[in-house]
Amino acid sequence: MPDHPPTEPRSPAPPGPGPFEPRVIAFCCQYCAYSAADMAGSMRLQYPSNVEIVLVPCTGRFDAILALKALEGGADGVYAAGCLEGSCHFLDGNVRARKRVTHLKKELESVGVDPGRVEMYNLSASQGPRFAEIAREFSGRIAELGPGPASRSKPPG
Ligand code: FES
Repeated sequence: MPDHPPTEPRSPAPPGPGPFEPRVIAFCCQYCAYSAADMAGSMRLQYPSNVEIVLVPCTGRFDAILALKALEGGADGVYAAGCLEGSCHFLDGNVRARKRVTHLKKELESVGVDPGRVEMYNLSASQGPRFAEIAREFSGRIAELGPGPASRSKPPG
């Protein structure tokens, strides 16, 4: 099992003192990406604890609604992680997911949300180190971007 079992989206953490720690949700396909996460855990590779893994059967199930609900629910960044192109267990779910992410980036940009808050990654089941690297890189990117749209729209207090 990875260090971070699949979790349901939860309410955002209240703002507190100290550096901003983003909340990131990683939608991982149950085959390659989740296995890579599992391997990262087995190898005791470090990746940020603020990256929550949500297991999906295939990234073909990842769409704009899922991503927007996560952002609306308090996530500061969201990514889908699926099998390498050509290796999707449902043929082309990962290709469709990439197209959706590309489209969603444009939609987010058009409403003033940084498109970097969503991303699509591909990796094989044996890429535990790559999984950890992606989690660190994406979390770092979101930390630089600051709180996501849901956090920013909350009234002070
Ligand atoms: Fe992994 Fe489709 S089964 S992306």
